[in-house]
Amino acid sequence: MTPRDADYDRAVDLLKGGELVAFPTETVYGLGADAANPAAVVRIFAAKGRPADHPLIVHVAGHDWVERWAEKVPAAAWELMEAFWPGPLTLILKKQAWVPAAVTGGQDTVGLRVPGHPVALELLRRFAAAGGSGGIAAPSANRFGRISPTTADHVREELGGRVPLVLDGGPCKVGVESTIIDCSRGEPAILRPGHILPAHIEAVLGERPPVADAVGAPRVSGSLEAHYAPLTPMRLVASGRLLDFLNAHRHRGGRCAALCHSQPPQAGMPHAWRMLPADPVGYAHDLYAALRDMDHAGVDMIAVEAIPDDPAWAAVADRLRRAAAGAGKA
Ligand code: TXA
Ligand code: MG
Repeated sequence: MTPRDADYDRAVDLLKGGELVAFPTETVYGLGADAANPAAVVRIFAAKGRPADHPLIVHVAGHDWVERWAEKVPAAAWELMEAFWPGPLTLILKKQAWVPAAVTGGQDTVGLRVPGHPVALELLRRFAAAGGSGGIAAPSANRFGRISPTTADHVREELGGRVPLVLDGGPCKVGVESTIIDCSRGEPAILRPGHILPAHIEAVLGERPPVADAVGAPRVSGSLEAHYAPLTPMRLVASGRLLDFLNAHRHRGGRCAALCHSQPPQAGMPHAWRMLPADPVGYAHDLYAALRDMDHAGVDMIAVEAIPDDPAWAAVADRLRRAAAGAGKA
């Protein structure tokens, strides 16, 4: 599972040559390119089929690299880095003038993150040591709008021949994408919920950050309504209505899979039934792999038992809502 020296050497050579390398992070696998090389970054968009005006996160090896990429970094951002890096937190900061527009989607800001995965950090250190910008631009290593990969096999399934090297670091620990905090326009605001919760941010900054919709943030791909989606249509169903929903679907001649966290499998239901952990961290860890399995289960509908309405579930709720909005639109 751990890449060897030769794998890292090849990865650094590919990155320096303007090619793509997929690599593990603690959240999801990323599709990486040299962030200082616009031609390399364009390859990311081509491989994913992603619109070119969507900004990418630049991954760096540590705090030392921040001012290479960002300027006017506010005190609050340094406090968040100190508390959460390496880890599943992305900060949006004012960019340095030289940072390529291909990375930032033409915006005057850049997203930065130090990932908390030993393979990602080793790759970043070796890439930095080989000279250059030290930054690897990487979105999640999936086709645009689809489910983010949490294993190296998922990456191959998504991108196959489009990426010359996939570094295998085993399954991702967190399982959903990083929390994104905009620190570029006054008070920090949450652009995307993730493993790091508003309460964790509040414990560091002394104030709970607002969620960005309320502050008119830029439109970003992770905030599109239809995203993180399976190919099979998917519906969120309240726990109490789940059995009725499944029965009605079956009587219409359909084949429905159930993705649950509290409703145990029911006898006499012929469809795939998957139990996910009943806590938000465990659920997030398993969610994308489960949706991927369901897509291969030969069903025509995925019924997802609605999850608790609680701040600790915000990241899962966000991904499920967007997945349901995008599901079935091949
Ligand atoms: O956990 C993660 O964040 C993973 C791993 C690979 O690091 N990456 C990831 O990248 O989820 P991606 O491209 O799938 O999502 C990045 C999000 C997008 O919603 C993008 O628009 C937003 O970050 N973003 C990046 N730079 C930004 C900027 N300058 N301003 C606003 N949003 C930005
Ligand atoms: Mg993504």
